[in-house]
Amino acid sequence: MVSKKIEIAPSILSADFRNLEREVKAAQDAGADRIHCDVMDGHFVPNITFGPLVIEAVKKCVSIPLDVHLMISDPQKYVRDFCSAGSDVLMFHAEAVDDIAPVLQNIKKQGVKTGITVNPDYPVDLFIDELDKIDQVLIMSVYAGFGGQKFMPEMKHKVKKVYTEVQKRDITIDIEVDGGVNGNSAEECALSGANVLVAGSYVFGSGEYQKRISELRELALKGREKLQV
Ligand code: DX5
Ligand code: ZN
Repeated sequence: MVSKKIEIAPSILSADFRNLEREVKAAQDAGADRIHCDVMDGHFVPNITFGPLVIEAVKKCVSIPLDVHLMISDPQKYVRDFCSAGSDVLMFHAEAVDDIAPVLQNIKKQGVKTGITVNPDYPVDLFIDELDKIDQVLIMSVYAGFGGQKFMPEMKHKVKKVYTEVQKRDITIDIEVDGGVNGNSAEECALSGANVLVAGSYVFGSGEYQKRISELRELALKGREKLQV
């Protein structure tokens, strides 16, 4: 089954990096369930962000879990570093590797939750057979690389596909949606089966973290209620 817990994960990509400690603490105090950390290498995606050092620093600032999204070309090479830096869930792109199994195994070996994702132009078939080895599926609703892009509603069918598949099996998984999540898209994400919502610009780009996080949670709960009917 898909975890029933609705969680909101603000992405620090849109935070003020001059005051990262203050930002992540403010998100936690405002009710965030996790902190989403976007790692970009300038190769798998055109943008460059940060590496394990920043994860390690953020880990020291908050007690909520760190949801780490690797947008890098050779995730296997860095699994150990990101796990020991304090990732609670470590996600990588299936299209970045030849075989997802050894990467999943490596993450699990370090005692960290496994997460997998694909860009909008790749099918979830790249990992659907391995769902029993995965703790979290991340559905990208924008192309990985930048914050503040527009939600792609056609990605909801992927959420639904994973949701349906998970419901059929005896496994528990989190389904997370990432990209363009805001007051207009949150409910439909949950209605399609997602229980974790990433929001970068909608939370950190606003002056009202608590209001935005509560709004997203309420909308997601509304979607979730309808889904169960
Ligand atoms: C995009 C990142 C997202 C990004 C979301 O590559 O994976 O996590 O921060 O930002 P918004 O919510 O602004 O679309
Ligand atoms: Zn992300």
